[in-house]
Amino acid sequence: DWTAANIVDDSVAVIREQVGDAHVICGLSGGVDSAVAAALVQKAVGSQLTCVFVDHGLLRQGEAEQVERDFVATTGVALKVVDATEQFLGALAGVTDPETKRKIIGREFIRSFERAAREIVGESGAVDWLVQGTLYPDVVESGGGEGAANIKSHHNVGGLPDDLQFGLVEPLRTLFKDEVRAVGEQLGLPAAMVWRQPFPGPGLAIRIIGEVTRDRLEILREADAIARAELTAAGLDRDIWQFPVVLLADVRSVGVQGDGRTYGHPIVLRPVTSEDAMTADWGRLPYDLLERISTRITNQVREVNRVVVDITSKPPGTIEWE
Ligand code: XMP
Repeated sequence: DWTAANIVDDSVAVIREQVGDAHVICGLSGGVDSAVAAALVQKAVGSQLTCVFVDHGLLRQGEAEQVERDFVATTGVALKVVDATEQFLGALAGVTDPETKRKIIGREFIRSFERAAREIVGESGAVDWLVQGTLYPDVVESGGGEGAANIKSHHNVGGLPDDLQFGLVEPLRTLFKDEVRAVGEQLGLPAAMVWRQPFPGPGLAIRIIGEVTRDRLEILREADAIARAELTAAGLDRDIWQFPVVLLADVRSVGVQGDGRTYGHPIVLRPVTSEDAMTADWGRLPYDLLERISTRITNQVREVNRVVVDITSKPPGTIEWE
């Protein structure tokens, strides 16, 4: 019988059998896959698990708190948080090329994770197993997407040094995304994590067109929070596959506000519908929703004086702007 409760029971038994009384480590990204995988392992072996959350400073408003506070509160997991914002922003200084941004972020991620893993090994003696949120579609064909692919490329065994070899625990290997969400609900994880839309590993860094700075991240975070809150308030979260909000940090245009001329940045709204992110269509959001988002962003977010909507399908456009 396929029920989320049965899957949880079966997984718990399999994980216990696999890891025995060894120590286990799991990287959390803020996404649903790593969260559900970690929660299953936690249920199976409790304090043998240590989770690592590398906060690269490129997440959206509230996402780090979801991991550090809400996820810990609902699972009781032992979490090691690495605040690596300075490290990532330092490494990204002056960089504008999209692929270079990705490479730098991937490299810094492995460095941070490795350092954290070494500290955990040092504290507890040995860590033998690494949890990965690999899903069934990733097993069949290693594709794009958020959490799983991200964790896979960032935390994979090949990316870690030889003296830090782990066996892999992959409790989601037989599951599709909707099944992972059902298991997450069964485990009582925060709804915002279970139902999070796909979000790229490099985070807001590839939604700032131009150099990534603390100031620009702040602007984008505020605009993004408004767009997401309005989408949720309109009840459209599950109709939209993803809703990137992009800051054209190197573009300025003239505007007027009150008596004054402004010279600010445009924000791009990129709502898309999709089945698997391989192809996508632009999301037909209601005009009144677009109007509310535009009004709130231009009123509330400093330096932004214009909001535009991306009406390009994929192909030829990609979902992300970088
Ligand atoms: P594109 O922009 O290529 O995105 O249409 C397809 C899907 O992949 C996500 N994406 C990424 N995910 N690391 C990730 O983990 C990345 O570097 C990355 N780039 C794009 C994107 O959000 C969409 O879901």
